Amino acid sequence: MAETQPAVVSEEKFIIHNLVKREPRAGLAADVRRGLDSQPKRFLPKYFYDQLGSQLFEAICLLPEYYLTRAENEILERYADEIVASVDGETTLLEMGSGSASKTRLIIEALLRKQAELLFIPVDISASALDSSSRILLQSYPQIRVEAYAADYFAGLAELEKTERGRTLALFLGSNISNFDPEEALRFLRALRQVLHQGDALLLGADLKKDKRVLEAAYNDALGVTAAFNLNVLARINRELGGNFDLRAFQHHAFYSEAAGRVEIYIESLRAQTVEITGLGISVDFAAGEQIHTENSYKYDLGNLAELAANTGFTRARTWLDHGEQFSSSLLLAV
Ligand SMILES: C[S@@+](CC[C@H](N)C(=O)[O-])C[C@H]1O[C@@H](n2cnc3c(N)ncnc32)[C@H](O)[C@@H]1O
Repeated sequence: MAETQPAVVSEEKFIIHNLVKREPRAGLAADVRRGLDSQPKRFLPKYFYDQLGSQLFEAICLLPEYYLTRAENEILERYADEIVASVDGETTLLEMGSGSASKTRLIIEALLRKQAELLFIPVDISASALDSSSRILLQSYPQIRVEAYAADYFAGLAELEKTERGRTLALFLGSNISNFDPEEALRFLRALRQVLHQGDALLLGADLKKDKRVLEAAYNDALGVTAAFNLNVLARINRELGGNFDLRAFQHHAFYSEAAGRVEIYIESLRAQTVEITGLGISVDFAAGEQIHTENSYKYDLGNLAELAANTGFTRARTWLDHGEQFSSSLLLAV
């Protein structure tokens, strides 16, 4: 939970179901053990987002090289009313991987121009981001209620499937979809489709394929914030699992693979070294130059998006681009 809570809000307006807290470190421990045992070594991107990682991501969104947030914000500023007009009647807003929910405000405001009250259901693995963003939203908009799920996407969707909702507009912003490989993206959208009804809609933000130099700059910013975000996974393992990673003995490495259509992100060992993780009772050897794969960020074109929609129970009704045509927001209708 966030240490500084911006406001006291009434319990009737704010419920948080903390599914992560039920097994605080179990997932991290098992996945880190498995990932360090794999060849090549790998971590899952969801472990970037502890309290510090979530705040580092917010800093990334302010970087001049990281055009994604500004481009998506531009689209939402321009088209929010059109987006919310695509769902009829009193609408519930659901958001997967909501983070700080800063851009969500544009959709909330558009919905509140159409209806007097709103139920917002954010789902995010980061309980700290969820708690602080929900409190800030509740302070800004007295007309909303928040029912939040601190959970992995799939666990959150499994919970949501057990409950009934009316007309729903779902959001998956920030190109969060980019972290999934193609099979996982299909699995995720099908699971999300299961909790929606015919006539509900999903607004899907996806970063577009573009010049390799622009993409590589976005993941290798001059200030080194993305490097800090990446290396924070090692710091998290030190903090939560008793590791002794020397962060200065590793470096961030990111490049665009045109063939795979994705930015690949790694942590590279600068020398041969052995790391102890007492919480797991293991020691792990690294060769000089050995890499841990921490994230992929797949880039899309409009054909990929239409195909994804068609294979997961949606139809792509409309896609909006920013003026630089760098980022896409697609309205997918549940059919
Ligand atoms: C790239 S950030 C984007 C945040 C926000 N949607 C935006 O556009 O600024 C990804 C968000 O998804 C959350 N997240 C990442 N992996 C997740 C997972 N497997 N399950 C639930 N949330 C996840 C992170 O905590 C983070 O808030």
